[in-house]
Amino acid sequence: MKRIVLVFLLALSFCFSASAKEWVLHSPDNKNEVKVIFTGGKLFYEIKREGETLITKSSLGLTFKQFDLSQFKQVKQVSTNSVNEKWEMIWGEQKEVVNNYHEAQWNALTKNKDKLVLEFRIFNDGVSFRYKVLNDEGKHLDLLDEKTAFNLPENPETWWIHADYDSYELLYQKTQLSEVDSAHTPMTMELNSGVHVSIHEAALIDYASMTLKNNGQGVDCDLVPWADGIKVKKDGDLISPWRTVIIGDNAGDLVESTMVLNLNEPNVLKETDWIQPMRYMGIWWDMHLNTRGWKKDEKHGATTEYAKEYIDFASKNGFEGLLVEGWNIGWEKWDNWNFTEAYDDFDIEEVQRYAQENGMTLIGHHETGGKVAYQYEPQMEEAFKLYHRLGIKAVKTGYVGKIDNGEYHHGQWMVNHYQRVVDLGAKYKVAIIAHEPIKATGLRRTYPHFLAREGVRGQEYNAWAYPSNPPEHTVILPFTRGLAGPIDFTPGAFRMTFDGTYREEGYPSRVSTTLAKQLALYVTMYSPVQMACDLPKHYEEFPEMFQFITHVPVNWEESKVLNASIGEYYTVARKDRDTPNWYIGSITNENSRDLTIQLDFLEEGKMYQMTHFEDGENADWEFEPYNYRISNKMVKKGDTVQLTLAPGGGTAIRLEQINR
Ligand code: NOJ
Ligand code: CA
Repeated sequence: MKRIVLVFLLALSFCFSASAKEWVLHSPDNKNEVKVIFTGGKLFYEIKREGETLITKSSLGLTFKQFDLSQFKQVKQVSTNSVNEKWEMIWGEQKEVVNNYHEAQWNALTKNKDKLVLEFRIFNDGVSFRYKVLNDEGKHLDLLDEKTAFNLPENPETWWIHADYDSYELLYQKTQLSEVDSAHTPMTMELNSGVHVSIHEAALIDYASMTLKNNGQGVDCDLVPWADGIKVKKDGDLISPWRTVIIGDNAGDLVESTMVLNLNEPNVLKETDWIQPMRYMGIWWDMHLNTRGWKKDEKHGATTEYAKEYIDFASKNGFEGLLVEGWNIGWEKWDNWNFTEAYDDFDIEEVQRYAQENGMTLIGHHETGGKVAYQYEPQMEEAFKLYHRLGIKAVKTGYVGKIDNGEYHHGQWMVNHYQRVVDLGAKYKVAIIAHEPIKATGLRRTYPHFLAREGVRGQEYNAWAYPSNPPEHTVILPFTRGLAGPIDFTPGAFRMTFDGTYREEGYPSRVSTTLAKQLALYVTMYSPVQMACDLPKHYEEFPEMFQFITHVPVNWEESKVLNASIGEYYTVARKDRDTPNWYIGSITNENSRDLTIQLDFLEEGKMYQMTHFEDGENADWEFEPYNYRISNKMVKKGDTVQLTLAPGGGTAIRLEQINR
């Protein structure tokens, strides 16, 4: 993509007094404003939107064991610039992305002449900044603390999960900001004015994950440490990830923001035609329901025979991938993993041959059980080579449990491990779907074979956890975890309760949605790989509803949020990349809801066949989840459609253009 860099005079004001210096920058649309302040030897920033303060004076800086880059003698703005360009996503929620921002750089010098470079980029959809420490001599640096803070002028409603250093698989809490003890990012807030703000980071590379810790006025950056307490270790230049404050006038604006992607480097892969967004099934839900198992015994799921049965069903229904878990040695003890040797009842070569013959690929599986440093790292190149040789196009990785060398999942060592896996994926043309991952920070732009990750309390919790995911969960995710990137949530449950799988006495596990809402999730929960998680026999009970899943695209030209309120409801329309057809997903929490949408986005002068998969009368996630109706109608641009969502319900709509 051609990058058009305009030489441009920033809307920049500069004031100087003996004690303080201030610089002001604006976004291209002039609505967002950042003030960088140097006072009392320290650096701060402030953010406003249309005159309203969103982030009050908050500190900046880094403290190393070797020197302190939070106390300065002199700060100078050294450059300003403006960028307005477009680029195309190889796959995504949309094809074309506009990257338009104003930026500035400062050099901050300590009395010993140690230098911190500070960079700000101001977009119409948010503000970002990062630090650089240029270290030409390649000296070893130990970062002890990042001084970044995000102070708020009020105590807004906040959606957050606790900053567990090893997990993101938690239910979101909604509290006032003052109630947050520590949080992972994205952490999302709604201010009194209705402006929505989400704090996250972009391009997390060779650094520790930023978690947030309450500081009384807001939150401080709290980096996940190494086992020895150091936050980041570096020989050579240190470049922090971008600290991002995504800003929107409403909840939907957050979802439509592209700032995090824009802050990542362009695609580095020379060839990308091997990367395949796809719908997939798996020998998987069986294990979570306990009807089959991972280890090799009479219940073993990963057998050649069962895989072929699955391939027959999946290929007949247009799926392109089959995940098979429990195929390789190690599941008996979740130890002594062998990532290239199959159990003897699973002929991996034959299964992949059969999959290919039926237009599919196996999705490989590497569950490490946390045995990363001493078992997976030494074997992973051979494991990727095997998949490459067999033409297996993607692998699901897994990191259940503590990491064997004592490091945290979200610390720098693991951030670098996840990156080593991504690099191997690029080398051997195997795409990655990571479970128990590091959070997404937009790296899919640079490495488009990094298709999706979990890092969420996904569907599997409905099979065995108490409490299972409540109806509001999926209406919070698009505005929190979903802002980070694609989620391997694994929708498509067609059986909401399970016999004999109660894991805790008296508390039945269940899926807390209607059937129609499961369909809607394929549109609302964005991912380029979407699983149909349930068993073929359950899909056979509702063939008309299954038909939505077997046709829903996974790669989009355009996405538009039609209405949204975090934790309440969410409606999004997406246009298919390959056809003029549109799809709509709409979901609600435990409350029923009537929503009116307008089909403004359809092409002028064209007619569309609308198929509406919705909750039936009296449908209810708890009492009547299987109550649905399907209707057909001709519609055109500008028409109004009434959506009636049941408690815990949803709706899925397909709009097929006719007379092309
Ligand atoms: C946890 C993953 O999220 C799940 O999908 C997988 O089946 C198990 N680990 C076993 O690897
Ligand atoms: Ca998991």
